[in-house]
Amino acid sequence: MRSILVTGAAGFIGSNFVRMLVNRAEPVKLVAFDKLTYAGNLANLDDLLKKDKHLVFVKGDICDQSTLERVWDEHGITEVVHFAAESHVDRSIISSGPFIHTNVVGTQVLLDVARAKKVDKFLQVSTDEVYGTLPYDQKEVMFTETTPLEPNSPYSASKAAGDCLVRSYFHTHHMPVLTTRCSNNYGPYHFPEKLIPLFVTNLMEGKKVPLYGDGLNIRDWLYVEDHCDAIWTVLNKGRFGEVYNIGGNNEITNRVITETILREMNCPWDQHVTYVQDRAGHDRRYAIDASKIKNELGWTPKHRFETAIKTTIQWYRDHEAWWRNVKSGEYLKYYETQYVNR
Ligand SMILES: NC(=O)c1ccc[n+]([C@@H]2O[C@H](COP(=O)([O-])OP(=O)(O)OC[C@H]3O[C@@H](n4cnc5c(N)ncnc54)[C@H](O)[C@@H]3O)[C@@H](O)[C@H]2O)c1
Repeated sequence: MRSILVTGAAGFIGSNFVRMLVNRAEPVKLVAFDKLTYAGNLANLDDLLKKDKHLVFVKGDICDQSTLERVWDEHGITEVVHFAAESHVDRSIISSGPFIHTNVVGTQVLLDVARAKKVDKFLQVSTDEVYGTLPYDQKEVMFTETTPLEPNSPYSASKAAGDCLVRSYFHTHHMPVLTTRCSNNYGPYHFPEKLIPLFVTNLMEGKKVPLYGDGLNIRDWLYVEDHCDAIWTVLNKGRFGEVYNIGGNNEITNRVITETILREMNCPWDQHVTYVQDRAGHDRRYAIDASKIKNELGWTPKHRFETAIKTTIQWYRDHEAWWRNVKSGEYLKYYETQYVNR
């Protein structure tokens, strides 16, 4: 039986990926591995751990070689899907150290253990942010897999460094690696420091939503289940050494996202939006050309933004205890620094 190590499995996308595989009842063993940083939450996996005997959780750090080796031997790991990362751009601007540690050193340690243990497949989950920013008014210009890496934030620089390491292990050591680079995700279990869950939960708490700058930055938004499905497709059918862009062909400004959420939640703009100073080095536009994964592997997204955003808002309405628990303690200190005292 395949035995897949899923790093960062208690985070947003990792937990959705595990959920997808458990619900599909694929005959795979899943080892959910996570350090449980502020962004990791075992509550994201609780029901799955109770229901699936092929799923186990291990608390551990990808920078810790001996723990990884022990997990490998105990569970006979055959494949790795590597989500674990420090993932929030704003936090990387406040302090980049943890990003270099986990996203670069952690990726190197994981690659070394995977190589020594002769892993069958290693999939690096990366981001379109490694490509930098695109011209705002040239809609025909998009990120392709050959766009040069020009990361502009400490977060994206650390992800680009991780991607380069993965690439180098393919060329130098002939390791069976795959890399995916996806656009912005939204959906259930998203930590409420990121735009969509932050805005939805703020409105549910009767707070204002903090919109950066002029609100005209553009992102390509993809429902998280589509991202997980694309990763599974690449893991099963992708060619080693290749990069696959994943996107929704769905460019939307932050302003339009805000308007959509306000409309769905019956909140007027004037009473609920507060403009805050723009993020330093804020990339203006991201857009993904996902024709390679479509033409080569037959993957396209299944969810439309107009309906999936409603599903997402409803999920936060139905899971108030989940996000209220997350929006406490350390989160409140971070929120004050980021949005209130500036
Ligand atoms: N969220 C997006 O829109 C998006 C888009 C494209 C790519 N990605 C990539 O997908 C991956 C997952 O993103 P996410 O949004 O789920 O992030 P997240 O912050 O929600 O989850 C990251 C998880 O990694 C864990 N982790 C952090 N450091 C660790 C360490 N040293 N060892 C073990 N576990 C550790 C955390 O506890 C957390 O559970 C990241 O690699 C990110 O770069 C995210």
